[in-house]
Amino acid sequence: MLTNDTLGQWDRENFFHPSTHLAQHARGETASRVIQTASGVHIEDRDGTRFLDAFAGLYCVNVGYGRQEIAEAIAEQAKELAYYHSYVGHGTETSITLAKMILDRAPDNMSKVYFGLGGSDANETNVKLIWYYNNILGRPEKKKIISRWRGYHGSGLVTGSLTGLELFHKKFDLPLAQIIHTDAPYYFRRDNRSQTEEQFSAHCAAELEAMIQREGPDTIAAFIGEPVLGTGGIVPPPAGYWEAIQAVLRKYDILLVVDEVVTGFGRLGSMFGSAHYGLEADIITIAKGLTSAYAPLSGSIVSDRVWKVLEQGTDENGPIGHGWTYSAHPIGAAAGVANLKLLDELNLIDNAGTVGEYLNRTMQEALGDHPNVGDIRGEGMLCAVEMVKDRDSNTFFDASEKIGPQVAAAMLAQDRVIARAMPQGDIIGFAPPFCLTREDADTVVAATKNAVEKVLGSGK
Ligand SMILES: Cc1ncc(COP(=O)(O)O)c(C=O)c1O
Repeated sequence: MLTNDTLGQWDRENFFHPSTHLAQHARGETASRVIQTASGVHIEDRDGTRFLDAFAGLYCVNVGYGRQEIAEAIAEQAKELAYYHSYVGHGTETSITLAKMILDRAPDNMSKVYFGLGGSDANETNVKLIWYYNNILGRPEKKKIISRWRGYHGSGLVTGSLTGLELFHKKFDLPLAQIIHTDAPYYFRRDNRSQTEEQFSAHCAAELEAMIQREGPDTIAAFIGEPVLGTGGIVPPPAGYWEAIQAVLRKYDILLVVDEVVTGFGRLGSMFGSAHYGLEADIITIAKGLTSAYAPLSGSIVSDRVWKVLEQGTDENGPIGHGWTYSAHPIGAAAGVANLKLLDELNLIDNAGTVGEYLNRTMQEALGDHPNVGDIRGEGMLCAVEMVKDRDSNTFFDASEKIGPQVAAAMLAQDRVIARAMPQGDIIGFAPPFCLTREDADTVVAATKNAVEKVLGSGK
């Protein structure tokens, strides 16, 4: 068996890790953690150290680790038919079944699902479909996409542009010209402290409308947003936000892409965030929770309105010039079918709602009074704790102090609980598997309190 030292060396010498400080890692200044096995909400490394994974990998292992039903479905599919493509009308029993299962669960106005591999390529597909749509409708100027600062939609060229986080743009020559950003619906960080949530939502909608007017309504094709901002800080929308935004989009005939890569299939305690917040999407992006990450698979669910134009487009121009070799990969589809069945059979979406509410409430009780905790927020099985230098004046720590990463590191070291230091701001994020129990939630809350007190003192 390979030793940890050998693996560590091979890792540093050969493996280009995503979202990693490459130089520090290559120099051996950051640990190589080699994960070996996992079950339920726990993962275990090669040394047998067990961690409670309160971020479900990257908010994706929604049904929890080690589900044999999904592993067996994948194995059976691999033995029977590991691959066939889905071009020119081909399919497999699992991919066709999964498309039906998705549409059965999606909002009523949805029509078809295009399968990809991950959230980034699905959003890439969405932008292409939107450009095609407006060309078919004879509106070649209507191409710009409005995204939001702090939105996260992937890290490709177009999707990294949609993402509204500086780290994903800096030195990559992004964002591309057709992609523009409007305000984040981040009530806690609002400039005007006297605004109510409703007033702040109206302000965000007014800013959006001003941007549309400035750019020219005939140049704006679509708006993309996550029902709850995810990687940008886990920020649920302020009251009235989506109603106000959708009214503006309707006024200017702008399509709405709802990125449900994190929220789709139950994370908010509802099947889709769109239903949860009354969003009428033209396209919905899905990935992570579709297979609970047991195999890579994503999708773009397109509405009747968009689909009709795509059909018209192929009548006029021939087959759609868009496809990946691995679109609707049978192994991903098998994982998806087994995963959606498990969600139903084990009632996991209800659990995400009830235990998620418990996690948010107990986090508030444990840390709500700490002088360096400015905000505790969440929805369903999503929660965030935001730390501030001074609560009364709402002053933030300097990024160089790395308070968020220090708290996450203390949780890991002291209590072996994994939370995520979100990339922009001192925000600790939680997105556990839906099978989290109340006892697990107690462990997560206690670990967070211990870590905040270790880094920032008890505040007494
Ligand atoms: C909302 C959202 N959209 C898109 C993506 C990109 O997905 P992927 O990393 O699978 O490309 C993510 C990833 O975290 C996401 O959170």
